[in-house]
Amino acid sequence: MDIKELAIPLVGSMIQQNASSAALAKKITELLEEASFSQMQESIEKLKFLMSCYRCALLEIETKFHVLNEQFSLRHERNPIEIIKTRIKSPESIQEKLERRSLPLTPSSLEQLHDIAGIRVICSFIDDIYLLANCLLLQDDIRLIEQKDYIKNPKDNGYRSLHLIIEVPIFLQNEKRFMKVEVQLRTIAMEFWANLEHKLCYKKSLSPEISQLTSEELSQCAEMSAQLDLKMQHVRDIIQNS
Ligand code: GTP
Ligand code: MG
Repeated sequence: MDIKELAIPLVGSMIQQNASSAALAKKITELLEEASFSQMQESIEKLKFLMSCYRCALLEIETKFHVLNEQFSLRHERNPIEIIKTRIKSPESIQEKLERRSLPLTPSSLEQLHDIAGIRVICSFIDDIYLLANCLLLQDDIRLIEQKDYIKNPKDNGYRSLHLIIEVPIFLQNEKRFMKVEVQLRTIAMEFWANLEHKLCYKKSLSPEISQLTSEELSQCAEMSAQLDLKMQHVRDIIQNS
């Protein structure tokens, strides 16, 4: 209930009863505390609901990839997907990202983050990444919001992956809601490099000399693992065409 609806008649009747100003002040403080507590509860409920919607969206997308994997293995006798990982962004990293973007810590600003629900699909070969991404994007319930191809255009540090921000509908009891999901597709070699780079460099304040030295080494490693991916794909093509 709105604080004004509660407070105006109550304070009015206290004035009529000649209540002391101390009693009035106490009552107003109690009302304000009650109101802010109920607002907080409302925000927690909204947050819980939103997080549950993101979990449902992840279930939808994960199932879509399992279906594609299943179909492909029937047709080609091999699975393009090695591993699927899903995650919901932790409250700490949601808070960190909202603060970094100077957004208020409210449930409505969460909708401006595109990576609260994340799914990573680790593929056997580079061309499986594009095959799976195309199959997913051709599905008529999927909306593509953004695509970043860090395989064709690797980041300066050597990071490679295909990133999609998509929207998928989830069907709730009384409504249909489109939820955003970040999809990262990469090969085993790309995953190996990204995991180690993340472990070595994430949140580490390295000196400029060490940073320069290690970033050169890391980008060479990324180049070597990209070569490995191409060679493995080549070997697969030879075997497939034999
Ligand atoms: P964030 O604010 O981190 O979400 O970045 P962004 O909005 O610019 O999106 P981008 O698509 O560049 O990166 C999103 C995600 O990709 C990150 O949260 C990481 O999981 C992964 N990623 C991007 N760049 C790197 C990198 O250089 N190294 C590693 N290990 N992972 C990366
Ligand atoms: Mg992110």
